[in-house]
Amino acid sequence: MSIKGKILSILLCLAVAGLVYKSTDKTVGRFMPFFFHSKITPDDVLSPGNGIIFIETTDRMDLPSLVLCAVESAARINPDRPVTFFMKGLPDINSAEDQSRALNSFPTLAPYTNIYLFPLHMETLLSETPLLPWYQKVDPKKEVHWAHVSSDASRLALIYKFGGLYMDTDIISLRPVPVENFLVAESSQLSSNGVFGFNAHRDFTWTCMEDFVKNYNGEIWGHQGPALFTRVLKKFYCDIPPFKGDEDLKCGNISFLNPRRFYPIECRFWMKFFEVWNAFPTFEDTYALHLFNYANRAERRVMVPGSNTLVEHLYLENCPVTFQAVFEKKSTHLTNVP
Ligand SMILES: *[C@@H]1O[C@H](CO)[C@@H](O)[C@H](O)[C@H]1NC(C)=O
Repeated sequence: MSIKGKILSILLCLAVAGLVYKSTDKTVGRFMPFFFHSKITPDDVLSPGNGIIFIETTDRMDLPSLVLCAVESAARINPDRPVTFFMKGLPDINSAEDQSRALNSFPTLAPYTNIYLFPLHMETLLSETPLLPWYQKVDPKKEVHWAHVSSDASRLALIYKFGGLYMDTDIISLRPVPVENFLVAESSQLSSNGVFGFNAHRDFTWTCMEDFVKNYNGEIWGHQGPALFTRVLKKFYCDIPPFKGDEDLKCGNISFLNPRRFYPIECRFWMKFFEVWNAFPTFEDTYALHLFNYANRAERRVMVPGSNTLVEHLYLENCPVTFQAVFEKKSTHLTNVP
């Protein structure tokens, strides 16, 4: 090949590379700050303290559409915040390419440049917290609620270490959450642990981890969850007063948000999400909606396109990419991503 020919072929390659770069701009763009690091760690993404955190503690990779909707809706309504999803079944992520491959295996999440996937490594995550000795002692095979209990532990350690906002994977985000250092009332005087937000290294999350270990009882569902948050709040922060109306409360230096912010539909009415309404509520003073997957565990109701149910309406408005995939019966998890 002549010199001219060589130069031409190099230029052509560059042009093609440029094109590829441009067409995958969205995925490449997300890695720019870390482009020259060999590793992408949760620390890189979450250390600014404004992250939104989701956790999947089972090995499943083919996720229900509600989980995908939860992550998508959070990423969509908070484009300025990193949305991280820690999944037990995910292989190690050691480079930008690994991150890209992981994300591309979830085609409904891949279009969002602020979503990051990480494997859930509990041993590393719980290190240097009161939870580590408990984790080293506990036998997951003998635990009756392991998926929940391990999630309860992981969310505390993550928010303690990095700060940010934790949300369960059955919560559909409607608007940004404008508060920090908050807990959410599921009902009067009862704190949820399905959604909460704190700055890093706050005493509340540390105290919860200590109490988690001290009073551990894996047989009681919620004992390490809502019950733990409620008893720590009552013991160390305030004698939680009942709500009078739509107001939020202050409990010591923690905001205790009105049930209307996340639970305008109470748990015992969870079926309402799967019903047809005459007119859909606007949920004006609500940040996100908890769909009560646990209450739904026996019936396993799902969003059905064309059903005109509240949940379909919520998907259409808040997680349109997930909705479209369900509507077209497209696979939402690909196993052969190069
Ligand atoms: C919040 O209140 C607790 C309990 O009264 C206290 O120990 C802690 O230092 C306070 N934290 C901040 C950041 O003000």
